[in-house]
Amino acid sequence: MATQPALAQTAQTDTVVAADAPGDMPVEASVHPEQWPEIAFPRVLTEAGEARVQAILARMTVEQKVGQIIQADIASVTPEDVRRYRLGSVLNGGNSGPGGDDLAPAEKWLELADALYEASMDVAVGEPAIPIVWGTDAVHGHSNIIGATIFPHNVGLGATRDPELIERIGQVTAVEIRVTGQEWTFAPTVAVPQDYRWGRAYEGYSSDPSLVAAYVGSMIRGLQGPPSISPILAGPHVAASTKHYLADGGTTDGRDQGDAAISELELRLIHGAPYIPAIENGVATIMTSFSSWNGVKLSAHRGLITDVLKGRMNFDGMVITDWNAHGQVAGCSNASCPRAVDAGIDMFMAPDSWRMFYDSTLAQVRDGTIAMDRLDDAVARVLRLKERLGLFAMGKPSQRALSGEYDLLGAPDHRAVAREAVRKSMVLLKNTGVLPLQPGGRILVAGDAANDIARQSGGWTLSWQGTGLENDLFPGATSLWSGIEQAARATGGSAQLSEDGTFMQRPDAAIVIFGETPYAEFQGDITTLQLRPELRSPIATMRRLKEQGIPVIAVMITGRPLYVNEALNTADAFVTAWLPGSEGGGVADMLFAGRNGVFAHDFQGLLPTGWPATAKHGGPMLFPFGYGLRYADGPRAWTPVPQESGVSDDGSNGSVFFELGSPASSWSLIVSEDDGSNALRVTTVPVDALHGRVRISATDHGVQEGARSFTIDSQGAAIELAAMDPIDISRETNGDMLLLSTVRRDSSITDALSMSMRCDGNPCDNSVPIAEFGRLAEREWTTLGIPLKCFRAAGADMGRISSPFRITINQAAALSISRVALGSLSDAGVIANCKTD
Ligand code: BGC
Ligand code: BGC
Repeated sequence: MATQPALAQTAQTDTVVAADAPGDMPVEASVHPEQWPEIAFPRVLTEAGEARVQAILARMTVEQKVGQIIQADIASVTPEDVRRYRLGSVLNGGNSGPGGDDLAPAEKWLELADALYEASMDVAVGEPAIPIVWGTDAVHGHSNIIGATIFPHNVGLGATRDPELIERIGQVTAVEIRVTGQEWTFAPTVAVPQDYRWGRAYEGYSSDPSLVAAYVGSMIRGLQGPPSISPILAGPHVAASTKHYLADGGTTDGRDQGDAAISELELRLIHGAPYIPAIENGVATIMTSFSSWNGVKLSAHRGLITDVLKGRMNFDGMVITDWNAHGQVAGCSNASCPRAVDAGIDMFMAPDSWRMFYDSTLAQVRDGTIAMDRLDDAVARVLRLKERLGLFAMGKPSQRALSGEYDLLGAPDHRAVAREAVRKSMVLLKNTGVLPLQPGGRILVAGDAANDIARQSGGWTLSWQGTGLENDLFPGATSLWSGIEQAARATGGSAQLSEDGTFMQRPDAAIVIFGETPYAEFQGDITTLQLRPELRSPIATMRRLKEQGIPVIAVMITGRPLYVNEALNTADAFVTAWLPGSEGGGVADMLFAGRNGVFAHDFQGLLPTGWPATAKHGGPMLFPFGYGLRYADGPRAWTPVPQESGVSDDGSNGSVFFELGSPASSWSLIVSEDDGSNALRVTTVPVDALHGRVRISATDHGVQEGARSFTIDSQGAAIELAAMDPIDISRETNGDMLLLSTVRRDSSITDALSMSMRCDGNPCDNSVPIAEFGRLAEREWTTLGIPLKCFRAAGADMGRISSPFRITINQAAALSISRVALGSLSDAGVIANCKTD
């Protein structure tokens, strides 16, 4: 942003001193509610409805009130807990599913919804009984459920410039949610990303606030119905949530959960803009951001929550926090945060911390730390949500309209809407004439992203990170490859899949599909705008094909514009498909001409943000916001662009510590005695350490010499990955991530190994015994996952980790290691059963 005009100080300044700000210098995050727009929140409850809310509130005990403002995760709560604690809500986090199975079939979701509802309505434990509400991240379709329609992620929808389509997507998503019994989605994300290095940039429609704002009303009406609809569940609808309030997309360097160090004007005009249509359309709930504004965490920002959102902008719905975000507020922990109640939070997403949070909040209400009228206001807002949904009158989930109609998940007319969205979202950046592909040709389909539905769907698909999912987990879905194959055949031609681009019969043209792999939240943060080095091999394939005189079409799967000038120069046509989701056929629709040789559908997608000319954020743009070619305008000549990234960083992923047998940049592999003495930094192999007691050599895995083998004598040794500068993995720990080691046991190992981390170069007393290691199948590669929470529980300071991997062995042993990284549950083959709290 350009420099901001100075703002006049006014009398109504509400100053918050940023206790969260590091260092001694207090930063002032002042807010001026009178500068924010006054908005009318539509009337969503009848007088009778409001009277009912007040009547229920009047009958509630303090315990019941505290229960209502808490949301637990289904992985950490049972129907029995709901009955006993009268909890107001549950959610399923990205990795949670009924019965501990994230991939549970649709029926199980509805069964659990019934069980939770019935527990909440059990009057034997006291009245009034208040039905529970279940929130889910249906952020691109009902994306946690196998078989559901998966829509393009928001960045792709931003390219469509079609608010009417957005409304239909909202409608379809709501219908599919209703099938499995949930009533509320944590969508739409209305972030306005200003830095695409942010791992959540793809969840935002655009970097342009007016484009985001133009969609918000449509999505909310699609999901909830128009504000006049009452109750919401009487129609094919669910409650929506706009998130993450405020300026989640405005943090410094695009750091997820970071700090937006921006003026109030920028805060209001850029990040505040989408909240105007959200409130005008009566969005039922708003989720606060993990991030801070000028050092003050949004989860407890009284000025922005109470004074601006509820006071000035008249938001009459319910404000919920994000996943344990209250624990990041200065003076708070996951178990307690009276300051956030006071700031205006109405419901706490306390996934695994709900019980401790309940106890502390109850005590704080009893001793007056939390004012009763604030608690009553929060509870009234929770009750209004339930009244507006119609929960009091609707009966249990399975009795409601659409429930259990499993055929509606991924129904043909739903998929048709998604396929239309895929077509409209694709942006044509280069076409010297190879497109559209003429009927009857022989098409080669290459690239590592060609036949991978999880990859084309991105994060927040079935699991949180969306990684490690095979195509058979997507019944009814179409990969880009199979869509292309069908289209080639339909036009009288043929297609062949060959990921590395080798072929037997010379093709007429090649489509090379490449790009990012799935990620969610901070896992997707990057430091420069490049494709990770290990994802670049399809660009070499493009070059090889071109050298053989074969026309090449590059299709990029990506959550964001990246510096890929080499692919742009090499290919004859370049299309970005973003993260299209389950309907890969939509991509083929755009690439092939109809039988008459004329295009079947013209491109309409326009860039939702600029496309960079280098890998440097803030550097020059290659294509401006709004760029996109159309077939109707004919081919366009291409002037080669410089292949200079402008950055020194190679774009490696910061959470990979060891790969293909070598430490990632800035990490060292060290072998030492248990106490750290006699340390050897392993640079070449084979080599001996500890006076010949340990032999380190290369072994093959994945690629030649893609791993290191360690043969240790009976006195034992320690193997460690260390760096000079400690890393902060507290967000990863909070997000239930694991330390993943791809290992092979090469001898019998009878004693438990211990794994530990070092903090700032020192041991920090966090040894975790791993009995599983000795039980791994001998001479077979396995990915062993150890929850990061085990190290935290054992005493590691996750904010200052200098060795994320240290294995101590006290007996003769042989083992091999090929990769060490952070990742998700779904990436682990064996999970260590260690204490996490
Ligand atoms: C994310 C939210 C999400 C919530 C529940 C958080 O970590 O930031 O966007 O709605 O988890 O899964
Ligand atoms: C995500 C949740 C996810 C969890 C991992 C959070 O940060 O938002 O949805 O399930 O981490 O357990």
